[in-house]
Amino acid sequence: MERTFLVTGAAGFIGSHSVDLLLASGHAVIGLDNLRTGRLANLEQALRSGRFTFVEGDAADEATVDAVFAGRRIDGVLHLAALVSVPESFREPALNFRTNVAATDVVARACLRHGCPRVVFASSAAVYGDRAELPNRESAVPQPMSPYAAAKLASEELLLGYAASYGLQAVCFRYFNVYGVRQDPGSPYSGVLSIFTDRFAAGLPVTVYGDGEQTRDFVSVHDVARANATALIAEAAGSGRFNVCTGVAVSLNRVLDVYRRLYPSSAGVAYAEARVGDIRHSCGDAGALAKRFDVRARVEIEAGLGALVRGESLS
Ligand SMILES: NC(=O)c1ccc[n+]([C@@H]2O[C@H](COP(=O)([O-])OP(=O)(O)OC[C@H]3O[C@@H](n4cnc5c(N)ncnc54)[C@H](O)[C@@H]3O)[C@@H](O)[C@H]2O)c1
Repeated sequence: MERTFLVTGAAGFIGSHSVDLLLASGHAVIGLDNLRTGRLANLEQALRSGRFTFVEGDAADEATVDAVFAGRRIDGVLHLAALVSVPESFREPALNFRTNVAATDVVARACLRHGCPRVVFASSAAVYGDRAELPNRESAVPQPMSPYAAAKLASEELLLGYAASYGLQAVCFRYFNVYGVRQDPGSPYSGVLSIFTDRFAAGLPVTVYGDGEQTRDFVSVHDVARANATALIAEAAGSGRFNVCTGVAVSLNRVLDVYRRLYPSSAGVAYAEARVGDIRHSCGDAGALAKRFDVRARVEIEAGLGALVRGESLS
């Protein structure tokens, strides 16, 4: 059955992959994005589909969001629009609050007013902080260490409170380190893998801060889009918080080995002093997502990086 979904932040990295997958599954999609960090070029394929409508606007603006809902039935919202840079959240706490908390409230209340039953929300592994036991489990006490992480946690609480109060279904996804094509390597805060890809492709040396043995749970945007689409489409979603991760800790040195194989004549790697505040290890427990939605990450790092350097979209 064809349904209609609203994706906020649709022109972004994760948003555009999620839109493509929902369209490929036969659904109609409305994308809302103010193009602050997203690009219309990411939606080229979607715009050609005939089942995609793009609205340029601010997800924190009540009138804009109301106008999107007016006169149509929306079956679920994937709320990804956000101020995505942790350092920017320190510099711009008011904008962080508006974009990462107030917009969630605006979107959730619009769902309640217009009878939209479900919100799938992009939270982050950042809510765990750097002292939680590994692998990170959803039951751990969150310890946000930045305005960004605090806002993501506040949005989770707000949505789950609305779920308990009004029966909204609120699925809060805590994404780990997402990578894949369309991630903007130009941003100084972009994911490490998009920066590595950019520099290896240009034959430039890369800098690793620390000894390279720090680990991350790198999850392909293909798997993230699949989790998003599954949670939107599932007959019954319920509410809760779920890690979206692989459950595998991969060191930067292992990642560099893969790049060296992909770029045999690479310019080399320089090791610099570890940056203050960088988390040493990060890895999630993928069990809750698998149990509730039967979704498991399928893309292994070697295959995912291969697709990334070839510019292939797996979604
Ligand atoms: N990429 C990751 O590794 C990662 C990890 C954890 C969580 N997340 C979360 O996933 C979501 C998507 O992130 P991404 O990596 O695709 O980043 P992105 O910057 O590519 O996407 C964010 C999108 O939101 C749009 N946007 C920003 N403010 C808006 C507003 N007020 N109204 C409408 N649109 C607005 C931007 O223009 C952009 O297209 C974000 O909520 C982010 O916090 C991402």
